[in-house]
Amino acid sequence: MQIPIETALGERLGKAFEAQGLPATLGATARSTRPDLAPYQCNGAMAAAKQAGKPPREIAQAVADAVSGDPLIESVEIAGPGFINLTPSAKALEDRANALAEDDRAGARIVDEARTVVIDFGGPNVAKPMHVGHLRSSIIGDSLQRLFRFRGDQVIGDVHLGDWGLQMGQIITELAREKPDLPYFDKDFEGPYPDESPVTIEELETIYPRASQACKANEARMDEARMATQALQEGRPGYIALWRHFLEVSKAALKRDFAALDVHFDLWKGESDVQDRIRPMVADLVERDIATEDKGAIVIPVAREDDKKELPPFILLKSDGAALYTTTDLATILDRSETLNPDLILYVVDKRQSLHFEQVFRAAAKSGFAEDISFEHLAYGTMNGPDGKPFKTRAGGVLKLADLLDRAHRRAVARMEEAGIASDMEKAEYEAVADKVALAAIKFADLSHDRATDYIFDLDRFMTFEGKTGPYLLYAAVRVKSLMRKAEDAGVEPGEIRIKEKAEADLLYALDAFDRASATAYEKRAPNFLCDHAYTLAQAFSGFYSACPIVTAEDAETRASRLALAQLTLTQLNLVLGLIGLEAPDRM
Ligand code: ARG
Repeated sequence: MQIPIETALGERLGKAFEAQGLPATLGATARSTRPDLAPYQCNGAMAAAKQAGKPPREIAQAVADAVSGDPLIESVEIAGPGFINLTPSAKALEDRANALAEDDRAGARIVDEARTVVIDFGGPNVAKPMHVGHLRSSIIGDSLQRLFRFRGDQVIGDVHLGDWGLQMGQIITELAREKPDLPYFDKDFEGPYPDESPVTIEELETIYPRASQACKANEARMDEARMATQALQEGRPGYIALWRHFLEVSKAALKRDFAALDVHFDLWKGESDVQDRIRPMVADLVERDIATEDKGAIVIPVAREDDKKELPPFILLKSDGAALYTTTDLATILDRSETLNPDLILYVVDKRQSLHFEQVFRAAAKSGFAEDISFEHLAYGTMNGPDGKPFKTRAGGVLKLADLLDRAHRRAVARMEEAGIASDMEKAEYEAVADKVALAAIKFADLSHDRATDYIFDLDRFMTFEGKTGPYLLYAAVRVKSLMRKAEDAGVEPGEIRIKEKAEADLLYALDAFDRASATAYEKRAPNFLCDHAYTLAQAFSGFYSACPIVTAEDAETRASRLALAQLTLTQLNLVLGLIGLEAPDRM
């Protein structure tokens, strides 16, 4: 059977509803909230009652009568006000199990119509350290890009670096004070400029906080930074040369950080990549009367009459002619529309930027150059420290990603030692396992929450090998691998799956839900459904394995069947872990 059991049941019931002149969608069937009564349930009769003008139990009974005897169904019962409780037949379970075992996607279907989807995520800023907000965007965005690809879309992940804003002018002017003799500041210098960057990434990361503080404290100093930003944007050669250095050293460091996270991008573009599009875009928008002048600035009015809160106009150019974050975002839409022709653009960005994206999307709609593109801001909440405030280091600074990963690695080692995990391993393998455990803890904790809610970063809790955590899931996958090895060593080979025991059926129900979990995660852009599925599956496997041993089962067919179930579980567990960006080691 090539479709999930619950889908097949839903279709049968749908026909029975239709036969009563009711919509087929009422047949929708899902895992039961009372698994002690039956594994599946359909609540359509209650929803139909009003429309049909009949009591729900009567409708339910007619549906039950229509489907009883169906080879898919073992039993159908009416409960309470009109729940239809369903138990599929053993034959249906076995057919489905064997189909899953042959499917390298372990039952997850692909979308009917593939789309081109740009995912804008990560979004670190050049010369500023990557902070935990960017960590969230990176983890969520990466999971979504893996999921959208898995579902069959053509996905383009773009890091969209913040590399064209005020921080550039702030750093340039700070460096001009600290190293005034550098040729970049000499207006008469005729080049060529040095190939080597005058600052390392470590220096750059200390210059930015100094610069930003100085600007905050002093309005004149801030004006200077603004002017430098504008000069950069207008192409002053020394500043451009300097900015290129900043970009290069920052990118090298960011690439290391993202590699450590196992997060990868198709495009390493940034705000600056659309610099040449800005002037013509603004001129065009002004000419078409979409943008207008407002107190010297060029704006697009984006407020609508039915707005509950007043939406300020979208600023294209400030009165001094400088482009803003909004401007580069609009120009990037124009660029993506012309070069990538996407159907959908997803922005995985902090929820505090909701207003910004509302403005950008409205401006894009007005501009007319994005008519075939849908836009979504996938907002996420804040990662807080134990005090409930945005996560900081003890000294109150932003925590650098590399330091966070280090810290997680050390904690992983401590936990592994405590639990006696991987104690026989050579150093290199041990360290690699600890890295995987550390990443699993951080990523799973981030993804298992509803995206939009804030959560508290608690490494101790994330790092345990028990309960709903990343390390537990890795451990579960490793356990499946190891007992499969044992079975293989004992000469067992996987064969036809037969479902005899309740624990086997329960494992199959869990496996069968992968299609729905991945579809729901995809539709809601919500990786937490994948996390839930991985956890349910790991638990179902653990229940299966304690009730249904492989090697010591009495007959060869049962051994072969159970090994095949274990293999199927491993395939699916690896897939779903892959979608949340985790990878289980071979042993630990
Ligand atoms: N660099 C921005 C920040 O740090 C995030 C960029 C998000 N993407 C976008 N297209 N605006 O806040």
